[in-house]
Amino acid sequence: MKKGIRVLAAAIALSGFSALACAEEVKIGFLVKQAEEPWFQTEWAFAEKAGKDQGFTVIKIAVPDGEKTLSAIDTLAANGAKGFVICPPDVSLGPAIMAKAKLNNLKVLAVDDRFVDAKGKPMEDVPYVGLDAYKIGQKQGEAMAAQAKQRNWDWKDTYAVINTFDELETGKKRTDGSVEGLKAAGLPADHILFSAQKTLDVPGSMDSTNSALVKLPRGAKNLIIGGMNDSTVLGGVRATESAGFKAANVIGVGINGTDAIEELKKSDTGFYGSMLLSPDASGYKTATAMFEWVTKGTEPAKFTALDNVTLITRANFKAELSKIGLWK
Ligand code: GLA
Repeated sequence: MKKGIRVLAAAIALSGFSALACAEEVKIGFLVKQAEEPWFQTEWAFAEKAGKDQGFTVIKIAVPDGEKTLSAIDTLAANGAKGFVICPPDVSLGPAIMAKAKLNNLKVLAVDDRFVDAKGKPMEDVPYVGLDAYKIGQKQGEAMAAQAKQRNWDWKDTYAVINTFDELETGKKRTDGSVEGLKAAGLPADHILFSAQKTLDVPGSMDSTNSALVKLPRGAKNLIIGGMNDSTVLGGVRATESAGFKAANVIGVGINGTDAIEELKKSDTGFYGSMLLSPDASGYKTATAMFEWVTKGTEPAKFTALDNVTLITRANFKAELSKIGLWK
């Protein structure tokens, strides 16, 4: 009997110990759609920094497609994660991601791209951290127009090519805002050409810009290149170069900042600058929010809009990036 009690006590102590060990190592997942994009690498780096500062482990998984996303959720559960932050490869995976997460008892926080339901409506009940996209787009449009004025461009021979990716709510809002900014500055509406990207990357926007360039009237001397992020504008600018436009006649302003660093190191290209966002907030704060949700039960807000933005150009990018630790 005594022995039995001892065994029982040992078992309780052991299970207590293992519960403690679990409590000690909190794991969260951080899943991103395009791990090759510096934006997402930067989010990961800031998420890991949060983990280091607060004592949790971040399991980073690249999820370029639906199959990888769903299997990543199983992997997270098998590894003892309690929740994950995700930018999905396709927002319509939202319901499948939520179902899989529920099955595995994992909490979900969407970042960058908001899930949509089967009807294409934003899944507003899933906590989401994203941009104040229209406003940021507007600032991008204003920045491009201000630079055109600086160069004394005449709106008469100035055209804009806007690469669109309307599948993403955050993309559509950004380009809508950007066009609003350009129009408000005086660019005539019929000087704005829209071109849909098939893929959201540099090759995808090279293609879409190329197909717009052939539609330009003869008198088009100066070009503004817009789109929802840096890769989009970079691809567009590359297309203008192949078509023979000089850097002095092209103004491209991206969004993200992180993916423009290498470009801004080059002197003089049509890529004038980028609207630097807060990848530090998107990575650090989302990871922290998930950690607090799984450890303290505090659910993040349904929508957190990030609106912090700074125009970086060749003149100030080193100083601005240094401020958030992205220039070493
Ligand atoms: C989307 C884009 C990224 C980045 C984020 C910012 O996910 O694909 O490049 O702009 O939004 O939220």
